[in-house]
Amino acid sequence: MAYFKLQGVGKSFGVRRVLHEVNLFVEEGEFVTIVGTSGSGKTTLIKIASGLMNPDTGGVFLAGLPVTSFPARAAMVFQNYSLLPWLSAKENVRLAVESAFPQWNRTQQLDQVTKYLEIVGLGAAAGKRPGQLSGGMRQRVAIARAFAVEPALMLLDEPFGALDALTRATLQAELIKLIGQQSPRATVLMISNSVDEAILLSDRVVALGTKLSPAVPVTLAHPRTHKALQHEEEAVKVKARITEFLLAAGTAKSAECQPVEPRILAQVVPE
Ligand SMILES: Nc1ncnc2c1ncn2[C@@H]1O[C@H](COP(=O)(O)OP(=O)(O)O)[C@@H](O)[C@H]1O
Ligand SMILES: [Mg+2]
Repeated sequence: MAYFKLQGVGKSFGVRRVLHEVNLFVEEGEFVTIVGTSGSGKTTLIKIASGLMNPDTGGVFLAGLPVTSFPARAAMVFQNYSLLPWLSAKENVRLAVESAFPQWNRTQQLDQVTKYLEIVGLGAAAGKRPGQLSGGMRQRVAIARAFAVEPALMLLDEPFGALDALTRATLQAELIKLIGQQSPRATVLMISNSVDEAILLSDRVVALGTKLSPAVPVTLAHPRTHKALQHEEEAVKVKARITEFLLAAGTAKSAECQPVEPRILAQVVPE
């Protein structure tokens, strides 16, 4: 039985059907990435996966139990940093550690905060507030906060989407490091707009078009680098399959958006 499951998930907003019959099974300790274009329903999907939004149909299950609210053993990183602006980086992380480990004393909690801020290279900036940090640094705080609670399930919604290419590559490497030093490893569901990023990080890659594609495994050994992946036959094949699915979904979508009778429409448009 899969550790984390989305079964028959459907969601509409008014007449717009965003998700339909989404089925996804993630094994314990596995890293699965869903790749999709903007507006394809990725954030909707991960909000439903995290219990923050109810699906219209189907359900989400973690370790066999239905997920109806944000699971205690989960952590999430959002697209837009989502830090408390009036608190320092250290206080943002400490708040999460305090609620995850209330049985620890303050020194233990602060040691945990320092450990994770140092892993993401923010030891010296711990006292700064989000407004005093760059986008990359803010997202590092969000990632440190997520890992500092030692979650069993990690949900990431385009965590690097707003960053420049160099910062993005650095944070990808830090994410690999953080996951590697966890024991047992967290089960990770990530959303990304980059097929390359998905191949770099994941055990399986899924494309979200009008529905979910079959999952494509990536069996290449770690550590993987963008440079090496350019020449790896398996990586090239995975990229081709996922891109093909996304393109087919894009074509299907734009066909859907075509007016039924473009000539008649042209007649009613004022000159
Ligand atoms: N709360 C909401 N109310 C109405 N429409 C929404 C809501 N959330 C998302 N949508 C719509 O659903 C579609 C998918 O949105 P989203 O899941 O944010 O896509 P993505 O993350 O892939 O860019 C978009 O057309 C968006 O406008
Ligand atoms: Mg989104």
